[in-house]
Amino acid sequence: MPSYAFFHDEIIPLEDANLNIMTHFLHYGTAVFEGIRGNWNEDEKQTYVFRLKEHFERLANGCRVLKIKLKYSVDELCRKTIELVARNGFETDVYIRPVAYTSSQALGVRLHNLEHDFFMLVMPWGPYLDVDKARCCVSSWRRPADNVIPPALKAAGIYINNALAKTEAQGNGFDEAIMLSSDGYLSEGSGENLFLVIDGKLVTPAPYNSILIGITRNTIIELARNELGIETVHRSLSRSELYMAKECFLTGTAAHVTPVSEIDERPIADGEIGPITRQLRDIYAEVIRGKVPRYKSWCTPVYKK
Ligand SMILES: Cc1ncc(COP(=O)(O)O)c(C=O)c1O
Repeated sequence: MPSYAFFHDEIIPLEDANLNIMTHFLHYGTAVFEGIRGNWNEDEKQTYVFRLKEHFERLANGCRVLKIKLKYSVDELCRKTIELVARNGFETDVYIRPVAYTSSQALGVRLHNLEHDFFMLVMPWGPYLDVDKARCCVSSWRRPADNVIPPALKAAGIYINNALAKTEAQGNGFDEAIMLSSDGYLSEGSGENLFLVIDGKLVTPAPYNSILIGITRNTIIELARNELGIETVHRSLSRSELYMAKECFLTGTAAHVTPVSEIDERPIADGEIGPITRQLRDIYAEVIRGKVPRYKSWCTPVYKK
C-alpha cells in the first residue's frame, strides 16, 4: 500500500517528500517534532488519534522557544492530521510524526533570519519497547538542564542525548536507559517518563528534574486519580529510591505503559508486574482505543462512518 506524507502544504506520496541537503535543520537539529498515536479499534474498524490537540499545543510551545514560525494553527494541524491518517488508510496502530523545522537552504548556527516549514508522516507502528517487562539501567548519560537545551521541548537536536543513552543501554543488554538530571536526581527514560510506587502512592520526577512533560504522564496521573483513587506526587527522586520502589513503570506515546522488572540487575520488588502498574496499563490500553466512554473526548476518530 503506498503511503502519503504532508509536505510543502499538500498530501503527496511519501517517496516524493524529499528535502534538499542544504536544509538548515538537517545540520543543526533546529526543529521541533511530535510523536502522536492513532490506535486501531478492531471492533469498530476505527482509528482513534489520542490527545491530538495536546500534542500540537506542545509543538506550538516548542516552536515559540526555538523561534520557529508555525505555518498553521493548532486546529488546522489537527484537521490536517486526521486527513493524512485517513488518506493512508492503515487498519493498524499508527505513529504520526509532525515536524516544524528551519527550512532555509543556508548554513550558520542560529535561530534567527531563517524560513520555516512543516511536514508530517504516518507509519504503522506497534509497541515501542516490545517487551512485557523492561530491564533497565541507570545511564552514564545525564539529561541536559533547561539552561543547556530545554528538555521540556521535543527539539530534534536534543535527541542525540537520548540516542547515546539508548544505545549504551542496549549495548549492555538492557531494554531501556533511565537518565539522571545533571544534579543527580532521577529524570526519565530515553523516550518515556518514569513512575515509581512508594508507600502506595505514585511518585514521578517533577518538571524541574529535566523531563519532557509527557502527555501519557498526564493521562496516567488522571487515570490513577479517577479510576484507582491514587494521587501522584511530583518531586526529586534519588537513585536509591528507584531500587527500593515497590513498582516502577515507564510511560510514553510510543511505549504506552511499560512495566519495569529490574534496574541495574536489581529486581523491582519480586520482579513481577505490580498491581497498580497492571491496572493502569490495562485501563490505558482501553482508553486510547476509544473503549471507555468517560475518556472518549481524548480520542479523535479518523474514518467517517
Ligand atoms: C524524552 C521523552 N520523555 C518522555 C516522553 C513521553 O512523552 P509523551 O507521553 O508525551 O509521548 C517522550 C516521548 O515523547 C520522550 O521522548
